[in-house]
Amino acid sequence: MKLNIAVLAGDGIGPEVTAQSIKVLNAIAETYSHSFEFREALVGAIAIDKTGNPLPEETLDICENSDAVLFGAIGDPKYDNDPSAKVRPEQGLLRLRKSLGLFTNIRPVKAYPTLIDKSPLKESIISGTDFTIYRELTGGIYFGDKKLNDAGTVASDLCKYSEKEIERIAHLAFKAARSRRKKLTLVDKANVLETSRLWRRVVSNVGKSYEDVELDYLFVDNAAMQIILNPKQFDVILTENMFGDIISDEASVIGGSIGLLASASIGNENALFEPIHGSYPQAKGKDIANPIASILSAAMLLEHFGLKEEAQAINEAVEKSLSLNIVTTDLDPESAFGTQKIGDFIADYIVNAEDEVCINKENINFGQSTII
Ligand code: IPM
Ligand code: MN
Repeated sequence: MKLNIAVLAGDGIGPEVTAQSIKVLNAIAETYSHSFEFREALVGAIAIDKTGNPLPEETLDICENSDAVLFGAIGDPKYDNDPSAKVRPEQGLLRLRKSLGLFTNIRPVKAYPTLIDKSPLKESIISGTDFTIYRELTGGIYFGDKKLNDAGTVASDLCKYSEKEIERIAHLAFKAARSRRKKLTLVDKANVLETSRLWRRVVSNVGKSYEDVELDYLFVDNAAMQIILNPKQFDVILTENMFGDIISDEASVIGGSIGLLASASIGNENALFEPIHGSYPQAKGKDIANPIASILSAAMLLEHFGLKEEAQAINEAVEKSLSLNIVTTDLDPESAFGTQKIGDFIADYIVNAEDEVCINKENINFGQSTII
């Protein structure tokens, strides 16, 4: 298969982790005879520095003319600490999601058996957890009218949803549940918000076409608690934009590190793949950032194009690295492995999987190259 992939590495650790995904995708291309072409483009704070715009037209153009977008991270402390900044890096990502029509954000959450003890939660609570969050990505309070009065003393953000916006993601979430354990939980705040009541009505109507899927409802405050108390109860969680943003960061605690959570953002014509973590500016350039979330996002990219075996090869290589404790220091503070070495191992393992027996334990211990 031939794929044109736009690479928007962005800020902070974005370029470092994305470089590992490209390494891994090149290993897949080599092993399975595909041709992946990468085109880099600017986004975020670095794009503001160079062009004054967090999403330059040229970047949008490249994305629109690619099969998929591989996204790194955006954000920079100089904007975080300046509430009066007129232009912010995040606007680049939000405009990109909106312009490409990426209305569904899929965030899988899983407890890896080899990492169980890395989570602050008890093993008995998290082992066996495997659910996916379907987060609406182009509506709600993120995109409603924003106002600030002239005196700068009163502000408002409008949360708005239409039936159509809810229906289209609900279908995708029901289909996902159908191919999994057939349970869908709608997370909302229907005891308070009119938009949530609309979500309930529309989702329960859509549910009539998926009678084999069990549909239940949970208020978001309760859901936040249930994710920590009993995460195994969930299969597919469907929710609006901001609730999804918040509970997916919360859910990342289950896996032991936010550096493991990947995501796919899907629209009718475009798709973007990105780790859920931010730009982690403190780690920039230090070769300590965990590249796995980005690498697993690359696996989601392959799966999106039907390359199941290839996606599985990445997932297996990632699991191998975790089980051999070839991890960054967020997962093992004693680890000698950096961002690039993790990428090298995973790419090597994909190319040489059958030679698994040749993995040189001694070199692994020294943090050197891992496959003879
Ligand atoms: C995410 C991020 C973004 C969001 C920010 C960077 C705008 O937190 O992808 O979860 O809030 O959607
Ligand atoms: Mn977020």
